[in-house]
Amino acid sequence: MSISSVIKDIKGRLDGKVAIITGAGSGIGFESAVLFAREGADIIAADVNLKSAEAVVERIKEKFPLKSFNRRAVAYKVDVSKEEEVKKLVEFTLKEFGKLNIMFNNAGIMHPHDDNCLNTDEKVWDLTMNIFLKGVWYGCKYAIEAMRKNNNPKGGSIINTASFVGLMGAATPQIAYTASKGAVIALSRELAVTHARECIRVNSLCPGPLHTPLLMDFLNTDEKKNRRLVHLPMGRFGEPIEQAQAALFLASDESSYVTGTEFKVDGGLTAAYVTPEGPCTSAPPKNYFKPTSEKK
Ligand SMILES: NC(=O)c1ccc[n+]([C@@H]2O[C@H](COP(=O)([O-])OP(=O)(O)OC[C@H]3O[C@@H](n4cnc5c(N)ncnc54)[C@H](O)[C@@H]3O)[C@@H](O)[C@H]2O)c1
Repeated sequence: MSISSVIKDIKGRLDGKVAIITGAGSGIGFESAVLFAREGADIIAADVNLKSAEAVVERIKEKFPLKSFNRRAVAYKVDVSKEEEVKKLVEFTLKEFGKLNIMFNNAGIMHPHDDNCLNTDEKVWDLTMNIFLKGVWYGCKYAIEAMRKNNNPKGGSIINTASFVGLMGAATPQIAYTASKGAVIALSRELAVTHARECIRVNSLCPGPLHTPLLMDFLNTDEKKNRRLVHLPMGRFGEPIEQAQAALFLASDESSYVTGTEFKVDGGLTAAYVTPEGPCTSAPPKNYFKPTSEKK
C-alpha cells in the first residue's frame, strides 16, 4: 500500500471543511489555523497584518505537506472593522474554495488607553467596539449568508472569541474591551437561537487570561502579571493552543449539539472564590508558533 493511499484514508476532525480564521497572524488565531489545517480544513488565514498571516501559512506548509493531503491554506489581508472588507473576504472564500463551513471571528486588540469609565477616551471606545463588536457582527452576517448555501452538510459553525471579562468584573478596568466582550456573548447567543434550524451553530469562546502578545504587551511588569496570577486556580496563564483545541471542538461536527454557549476555557478562573497556594504544577503545552529566538 502506498503512503498516499494511507494518507487518503486518514480522516481529520475537519476533513473537507473550509475555515476562515480572523486574527490568524498571532496568538489564538495562529494556533487555530495550524491545528485546523492539521485536522483537514482548508484555511483562509485573515489578518490586518498580512505578513503575520503569511507567516502562519508558511508554518502550516512547514508542518504539514498540504499538497499530499490536497488541502490549501492562504493568507488574506482584512480589517474586520470594515464591512466591505469582510464581505470581500467571504466572497473571496466562496470564489476560491466554493463554500464556507467554519467562521472563527477572533481578531482583536487591547488598547493601552482603555481604562475605567471616566478616563477612557471616546476614540478608544469606538475603535474597540468597531473591531470587536462590529467586526464580529460583519463576520457573522456574511458567514450566515454563505452557510445558508451549504447542502452537504448543511449550515456551519461560527465561533466568536469573547472573554472571561464578558462574564465577570475586574478591578483592573478596560471598560470598552469588557463592554464589547459582553456584547459579543449576547449577540452570539441570539444568533445561535435565530439560526438553529438552519443548522448554523454559533458559540462564543471565553478564554481566561493568556500568554499571548495581546495580554503580555499590556501586562508589561511582574506586578501587573502577579495581580492577575493570584486569581488563577492553576497558577499560570493559558496558552493559545489550549484555546485552539477548544475552538477545534466547536468547529467540528463533534459539537453538533452545542450552540449558544459561553464556552469557558479559563483554567477555572470563573469558578474560583479563593485560589490554592503554592507553585503552579501543570506544565503549559507547546504552541505551534516559534518565537524568533527559536527560528533558525
Ligand atoms: N490574550 C488574552 O488574554 C485573551 C483573553 C480573552 C480573550 N482574548 C481574545 O482572543 C482574541 C485573540 O487574542 P490573542 O490573545 O490571540 O491576540 P493577539 O494579539 O496574539 O492576536 C490578535 C490578532 O488580531 C489581529 N487584528 C487586530 N486588529 C485587527 C483587525 N481590525 N482586523 C483583522 N485582524 C486584526 C492582529 O494583527 C493579531 O494578529 C481576541 O478577540 C481577544 O480579545 C484574549
